[in-house]
Amino acid sequence: MTVVRWLHLLAMGFFVGGQLVLVAAVVPVARGTEQMRAMARRFGYGTLVALAVLVVTGTQMASYYHRWSDGTLHVKLALVAVAGVLVGVHIRRPAWHVLDGAIFVVSLAIVWLGVALAH
Ligand code: HEM
Repeated sequence: MTVVRWLHLLAMGFFVGGQLVLVAAVVPVARGTEQMRAMARRFGYGTLVALAVLVVTGTQMASYYHRWSDGTLHVKLALVAVAGVLVGVHIRRPAWHVLDGAIFVVSLAIVWLGVALAH
């Protein structure tokens, strides 16, 4: 299960850490440039891969630790669904920057619930 948790945390690191780097270092410097759009597009597709890894590894951990009836996991999964929809809309409507903030806040809440769940 260590490899599964390692992959879960790496995927979380890309998804949440990537947002932090975009907010703190990339957007303030490259806002509105073609490079900015290219970087955001690549991060968007990387995020879809990271979310897939999180779902696969999270499912394995939820089964291994018998957590499917856990209310904390249910709330977390609802937020993961919300995050997935917001990321999908954001890839199609990149100019809707309010979605950046919404995805970031939901991501932080998911990480909190993940840590609360962890053994
Ligand atoms: C955006 C998506 C997600 C993020 C950011 C995320 C993040 C995390 C984090 C940070 C932990 C704590 C790991 C540790 O401290 O060892 C965790 C644990 C966990 N996650 Fe996720 N997770 C996500 C999606 C999922 C999904 C989709 C599932 C289930 C289908 C899931 C199931 C679990 C379970 C069961 C644990 C607890 C493992 C244990 O009992 O130690 N996660 N998650």
